[in-house]
Amino acid sequence: MPHKPPFILITALSLMAASLCAEMAAAQDRPWMNRALSPDTRADLVIAEMTLEEKLGLVVGTSQRPTGETVGAAGYVAGVPRLGIPMLREANAELGVGIPPLGDTVRPEDEATALPSGLATAASWNPVIAQANGAMIGEEARRKGFNVLLAGAVNLARDPRTGRNFEYAGEDPLLAGTMAGAAIRGIQERHVISTVKHFAINDQETNRTLLDSRIDMGALRESDLLAFELAIERGRPGAVMCSYNLLGGIHACENSILLNQVLRQDWRFPGWVMSDWGAVHSTSEAAHAGLDQESGADWDSRAYFGEPLAIAVAEGTVSTMRVNAMAHRILRSMFASGVIDDPPAPQPLKINADAQVAQHAEEEGIVLLRNEKDLLPLSSNLRRIAVIGGHADIGVLSGGGSSQVIPVGGPALRIEFKRRADTIPYAMIFDPSSPLKAIAAKAPHAQVTFADGEDVDAAAMAAKGADVAIVFATAWEIEGHDAQSLSLPRDQDRLIGAIAAANRRTIVVLETGNPVAMPWHEQVGAIIEAWYPGQRGGEAIANVLFGAVNPSGHLPITFPASTAQLPRPDLPGRNIAWNTTFTVDYREGAAVGYKWFEQQHATPLYPFGFGLSYTQFRYSDLRVSGGKTISASFTVTNIGKRAGAAVPQLYAMVPGAGGSALHRLVAWNKLALRPGESRRVHVTADPRLLAHFDEAQRGWHIVAGDYRIALGASSSDLRLAATAHLDDGMLPP
Ligand code: BGC
Repeated sequence: MPHKPPFILITALSLMAASLCAEMAAAQDRPWMNRALSPDTRADLVIAEMTLEEKLGLVVGTSQRPTGETVGAAGYVAGVPRLGIPMLREANAELGVGIPPLGDTVRPEDEATALPSGLATAASWNPVIAQANGAMIGEEARRKGFNVLLAGAVNLARDPRTGRNFEYAGEDPLLAGTMAGAAIRGIQERHVISTVKHFAINDQETNRTLLDSRIDMGALRESDLLAFELAIERGRPGAVMCSYNLLGGIHACENSILLNQVLRQDWRFPGWVMSDWGAVHSTSEAAHAGLDQESGADWDSRAYFGEPLAIAVAEGTVSTMRVNAMAHRILRSMFASGVIDDPPAPQPLKINADAQVAQHAEEEGIVLLRNEKDLLPLSSNLRRIAVIGGHADIGVLSGGGSSQVIPVGGPALRIEFKRRADTIPYAMIFDPSSPLKAIAAKAPHAQVTFADGEDVDAAAMAAKGADVAIVFATAWEIEGHDAQSLSLPRDQDRLIGAIAAANRRTIVVLETGNPVAMPWHEQVGAIIEAWYPGQRGGEAIANVLFGAVNPSGHLPITFPASTAQLPRPDLPGRNIAWNTTFTVDYREGAAVGYKWFEQQHATPLYPFGFGLSYTQFRYSDLRVSGGKTISASFTVTNIGKRAGAAVPQLYAMVPGAGGSALHRLVAWNKLALRPGESRRVHVTADPRLLAHFDEAQRGWHIVAGDYRIALGASSSDLRLAATAHLDDGMLPP
């Protein structure tokens, strides 16, 4: 006799049957909800049901919060509720879920986990860290109700004074593209759409909307565009955000070469192009050039999509086919990312786990720049420690602008700056993680004092009697502004000089958004670059100072000795009238950062790729092979007494669009090794890194020949070299 199924099983079965019926009914009503279909098919199916008005609604966003909306976002795009298409709710998110840029009544102080700066994450040279950061932000965004993150900032750091470098991933296209791609992948893993931005060559903040970037197109492909290309391949972002500036006299958001030719035709990017906020200047020109969505239309001098686009369609200047294509691209990304199948569900944040992600990123991103006589790591038996400056008693600095995150626990300190009468104040925000407290916890027997550094003599007195003096120096960067020099602001150089004179065992901890000059650098015992350290920055810094973490960060950006070494010693575009544009000729082409320094035979203060450890590594037995690309293998050995992680970097000397052969980073690895441990590493270069971009033939050209390949611990510390032969080859664009 068959025995009776228990009641619970019957209930479960009937519930499953009911939901199956509902799904089947939905599948009949809404065939685009069928997850088995491709995102493109699903987009086509839903577009077939949409009115022109609904499609036009999808291609324009606003920063004005719709009535009844409870999520305070940087941007909103109306959905099509009758067809199950949700509203897009967009948040800034390079460094954590940001607050809306113009202040918002719903969530003006909405807290989220603050990551260290983009340069810090890039300095880890570890894509696993970048991906974990992305996944953390993606999850927090979901829990706050967002389905689009304005993340993936990958503009190359062409100038160490650029005010947004701290959001970006440095000066090298391979490093930046790899790290940004990994962060995007992490975000989208959580079923939230990520952008990649700002496309392209918005490489300074000073008068960025008037900036007309001029550069050889081949050189652009080998530099800024290569960073985007790699980030897009690795991260597959749902959208690309076009930038404020012009390129070759044409605004980026109506630049057909950038949007139609490079992005669509050459890279086959299937997602949509959204504008930066206030970056649209036309209706049909922009639509034809490849712009799919006007973001924050209330930021433009007037709306260009929406009503004006409807008129353009009625008049036939823009075809309905083009409008369909725009809507298609948006919808296919929505289906592909999962924001429709697995929408955000408001929930509290996992604060502790997320803070650990931020701490780990900072621990791997801190760069040890100097360590005379092994001053670091510090012993836990120190008796007197003088901590000075940088508000280190209460927190760590963060960068300003649209990427600003209000940290969990609220700011430890907020210093308001009013920009113009009509805009909200920008504030310098310190994350609530006190280095002083974290240091005191590491040295339980020590008397740990704090001097704010305002009174230089008092600070020097405190340093004089201490076993070590730890000076925290800060430099604030903010979107929309570039640093006027490389010097630390507020006379901090004088403070550090006075402390170093009082105590030879002085350690400088830099919390900066950019490289800085260090006139005192020979006088201090140790220097660490902690960037903007994030939610648990204080703990991460203390872990490095006391050796609980062995530093393994390497510079993703060259630290110049002075501005005279830069391609443009004077920042262009400073005194420009609001109705004119100004041209910046990027004559260095693809020779950005360390490549420029090599070309100029200039010696920087600290080179790209540089970073010390508390142990030492030996590189040996480099073997290379050529052909269509270069493969290399080598052995890395930890020859010191502590476990640590090495970042061996492979450079190839390649002639670029500009002609001269320069070293380019073509591969790297990050590997943790115990004392005495050796490991064999194998890497293969992406062949585009061995080619120059040939505009006439529209492709990547590898010129046959023998190439010098070098393995180093930085771009200036090349320890082993070999030669490999490459065959002549043409790669598609
Ligand atoms: C920034 C973007 C940001 C947008 C929305 C713009 O000013 O350049 O990076 O995503 O504002 O807040």
